[in-house]
Amino acid sequence: MTELENELLNTLKDVQEALAKVSGESELEECRAKFLGRKGLLPALMAKLGTVPKEDKPAVGKTLNSVKQQVQAAFDEATAKIKEAKEESEALDISLPARHDRIGHKHPISLVMDRAVAIFRNMGFIVADGPDLETVWDNFDALNAPQDHPSRTPEDTFYFDLDKCDWLDPQTMLLRTQTSDVQIRTMMAQKPPVRIVCPGRCYRRDTPDATHGMSFHQIEGLYVDENVSLADLKGTLGAFAREMFGEQTKIRFRPHFFPFTEPSVECDASCIACGGKGCRVCKGSGWLEIAGAGMVNPAVFKNVGYDPEKVSGFAFGLGIERMAMIRYAIGDLRLLYDNDVRFLHQF
Ligand code: DAH
Repeated sequence: MTELENELLNTLKDVQEALAKVSGESELEECRAKFLGRKGLLPALMAKLGTVPKEDKPAVGKTLNSVKQQVQAAFDEATAKIKEAKEESEALDISLPARHDRIGHKHPISLVMDRAVAIFRNMGFIVADGPDLETVWDNFDALNAPQDHPSRTPEDTFYFDLDKCDWLDPQTMLLRTQTSDVQIRTMMAQKPPVRIVCPGRCYRRDTPDATHGMSFHQIEGLYVDENVSLADLKGTLGAFAREMFGEQTKIRFRPHFFPFTEPSVECDASCIACGGKGCRVCKGSGWLEIAGAGMVNPAVFKNVGYDPEKVSGFAFGLGIERMAMIRYAIGDLRLLYDNDVRFLHQF
């Protein structure tokens, strides 16, 4: 055996040993460069074939070919093994339990509030805001509430510091009982025309039951301009009810009393459960009360410095919880505040 053949066979052994230890793609590439690259060991040996004496050439050539084939086979095998290992490590194990991202979502109260605001914004109303902590003046006096109105008593309303303050004093602080205070704040801050809605939280000293809570939400509306009429109010609330509860929804007005509107009405929507025929949801009447409303009382305009001879306006207050209960067929208001995820996940 010639020296070259010996070197070839030794190199083959080196290749096989090196590849047996290879465990990744980069190591495999290093081996490839070392043995097969342009300056690699095998090409260097092959180049020596030219210096082999003529009579030895056939035998050396044969060894060279066989070594070449075996080296190729060794590289092929190593490549396949690494590929397989890589695929195995990246394989999807579908028997693993999935990771659940518990993504939250909006509360039904917020869903209804956002929807209501969106509907009014489409009609050109803008959103106004007011504080939950309010003065007697903004919550009652400026809204023309008589001094002896039962809602003013500490039995009905949450006051602050009543040991130091008088609950009839206009500056005494309370938790607002209605979002109508934002009518006052808005009109005090700007000239007509006014076209606002105000979604917000209100507070009353009610004993919680299926339809009452100590805290609840309203969306107040106020539109003041020249020549605003009750027909505008009816058109606005009708369009709102159709968007909110469905195209077939009808509304009706019943006469009522609110100190800050004259005339005042309560607004009903035809029952979304029975369409007006009468059922359990509407207690047989075919109608569901959704809002208090009316034409802004001239006394209120005077209180905020507007001229009732020049402007007129309508106002309304919609109950958010009430609309959520209607829209989602919820029988008990307290479900909305219990924070039971089994309930809340349904929306
Ligand atoms: N603030 C009234 C309430 O809480 C609801 C209401 C009635 C608001 C008539 C209005 C309105 O703006 O015009 O019961």
